Amino acid sequence: MTTSLPEAADLMDRWALRPDGPVRSGMASLVLPVTRADGTPAVLKFQQPSEDNAGAVPGLRAWNGDGVVRLLDHDPDTGTMLLERLDAARPLSSVADDDEAMRVVAGLLARLVAVPAPAGMRRLGDIAAAMLDRTPGAVPALRDPAERRLVRTCASAVAELAGEPGDRLLHWDLHYDNVLAGRREPWLAIDPEPLAGDPGFDLWPALDSRWEEAVVATGDVTGAALRRFDLLTEALGLDRRRAAGWTLGRILQNALWDVEDGRTELEPAQVALGVALLRRWAPPLSGRGR
Ligand SMILES: Nc1ncnc2c1ncn2[C@@H]1O[C@H](COP(=O)(O)OP(=O)(O)O)[C@@H](O)[C@H]1O
Ligand SMILES: [Mg+2]
Repeated sequence: MTTSLPEAADLMDRWALRPDGPVRSGMASLVLPVTRADGTPAVLKFQQPSEDNAGAVPGLRAWNGDGVVRLLDHDPDTGTMLLERLDAARPLSSVADDDEAMRVVAGLLARLVAVPAPAGMRRLGDIAAAMLDRTPGAVPALRDPAERRLVRTCASAVAELAGEPGDRLLHWDLHYDNVLAGRREPWLAIDPEPLAGDPGFDLWPALDSRWEEAVVATGDVTGAALRRFDLLTEALGLDRRRAAGWTLGRILQNALWDVEDGRTELEPAQVALGVALLRRWAPPLSGRGR
């Protein structure tokens, strides 16, 4: 954290906040429940400023609470955000019915990506170009030739789509634990790492959510993965081939990070989703094309 304790105390003072419950630590942040002077529950989110979360404040401002947590205040010096308090005990991952959970994500995504990205956001076009530059150097590190082929296919999908990278405001990390129950709405998104781009690039975190239970456990990984992908793209009204191509772009992004972290194998879930999505990206020429 770049926020020191005295700085946190100073912010509590400046914004007239009282602590109101135990701190939660997320993947890359500390979240402290607080009460504002007027009694409103809120949380302070301290995080290490990074390239990925630099868009969070302008993104939350642009969404203005529509389908997403409200930004109440922000300290530009430390990156600390004061956010509307939601129910941390009720993430969307606690909804047992997977179709229902997926529909909630689809409904939120539809609202989030309806907003054009404000100026200054990092752009999918630049991210795609950088991924394509890094791919040739990364692929040889993978041991399995099938994984090398998959990553190259992901890159060719990105290369084909990169000329039309889109201009929507994307969340980038909308998995089931980044959706919390709210009071003014049943469910709201938290924790965006926004960018400007095509909505198809925003589906992967939901598709990866609850992978073992909702996909692997069915015994038909391809069928279950495609059923979820189809539910999501249908609800969002997306072109399936484009959405599959951009989701292959997320698999490419993850693969590049894995290789750059020194790994020589992809995550099995990544491979299985990639293989399934090839059916939507390049449907078989013959057969019924499921
Ligand atoms: N607005 C909020 N209201 C209540 N709890 C929150 C809120 N935002 C975050 N939290 C809690 O803090 C955790 C981490 O916050 P999150 O924004 O997801 O950051 P990270 O990047 O660390 O995942 C969440 O999983 C949730 O338990
Ligand atoms: Mg989170």
